[in-house]
Amino acid sequence: MINLAIIGTSWITQQFIEAADETKTFKLARVYSRTEEKAQAFIDGLSKLDGSAVKISTDLNKFFESDDFDTVYIASPNALHFAQARLAIENGKNVIVEKPSTSIIREYTILDTLAHEKGVYFFEAARQIHEPIFKKVQSYVDDNREQLTGATLSYMKYSSKMDSFLAGKKPNIFNPKFSGGALYDLGVYAVYDSIVLFGTPNKVDYEPEILSSGIDGSGSLTLKYDNFDVNIIVGKTKNSYMPSEIYFGKKTLLMDSAGDITKLTEAGSDKKLSEIPTTKSDNPMDSEAVEFARIMNENDTETYAKLSSYARKVNRVLEQARTSAGLVFEADKEK
Ligand SMILES: NC(=O)c1ccc[n+]([C@@H]2O[C@H](COP(=O)([O-])OP(=O)(O)OC[C@H]3O[C@@H](n4cnc5c(N)ncnc54)[C@H](OP(=O)(O)O)[C@@H]3O)[C@@H](O)[C@H]2O)c1
Repeated sequence: MINLAIIGTSWITQQFIEAADETKTFKLARVYSRTEEKAQAFIDGLSKLDGSAVKISTDLNKFFESDDFDTVYIASPNALHFAQARLAIENGKNVIVEKPSTSIIREYTILDTLAHEKGVYFFEAARQIHEPIFKKVQSYVDDNREQLTGATLSYMKYSSKMDSFLAGKKPNIFNPKFSGGALYDLGVYAVYDSIVLFGTPNKVDYEPEILSSGIDGSGSLTLKYDNFDVNIIVGKTKNSYMPSEIYFGKKTLLMDSAGDITKLTEAGSDKKLSEIPTTKSDNPMDSEAVEFARIMNENDTETYAKLSSYARKVNRVLEQARTSAGLVFEADKEK
């Protein structure tokens, strides 16, 4: 059994806990929150599992000194991931940290190196690449790679925090202090798609629409490969219903989203559309929870190295994109 603790008490942590619980391999042992009340409310809200034995910490150092858990899931604002993950690794804990795991590539390298030295796992939770539907996309691309001529990936969702931002508040996700914005929050999914499906791009260029807080509300990212381009549209200030597409000359593969694929359609060279049968779990975090548990239990170093390599490349591309646009986070100033 993997004894799990969590940092962050928002809905995404609840979703991960439910996915982890379904694996029958993780057991929630401890919750960290800045306040006892929020931690207790979070535990009380876990209707699908018994939280009566779950402990609470409100002091981060004491939390990591606890020996009742070996793995921590971190879902705090992006800019806090680095310090929290470093403390976790220094205390010998395995870390599953939400995407993007770091604000700058230097932080990624430090955590990756430290995790190797300490002999613990450091996973970036890029849920979509573990889902069966994404694996279908991967095998479609592999089978048709010789005809590959590019892709257009779109992921734009009007943020649940946008109205509050428009009302003059500064929610974490629109605050450069917390390394938020459209590219780091949603673009990261499309960058993952590109890195996993097509490899590392030769050139990265980001054209953002900057909000009054100094963060990107939306933007257009181009990844240049040897023989084709991947054009990515991301946004947190509008809703898009545009499909994402991967081109193979006369044929096209359509996905209904770059970050949360639920439907795949093939447009053949005769332009006829046919849906590709797929499966999708109700909880999009199920597959990653199963995979992280499997890798740790089987000590599957080969798959772990592959995931680490994807994460390193994604974090580097995000930083390159930001740099190309002159988009500055507070984490840059701490370099
Ligand atoms: N994989 C996915 O599908 C998915 C979906 C959504 C989000 N995410 C990722 O999950 C992470 C969290 O996102 P979110 O939208 O949940 O963030 P959030 O609501 O801003 O914060 C998450 C938690 O962090 C703590 N926190 C908030 N502000 C803080 C501050 N100023 N100082 C210290 N702790 C603070 C809070 O916990 P306490 O008050 O209990 O301390 C809060 O519940 C991000 O990395 C995001 O990219 C992933």
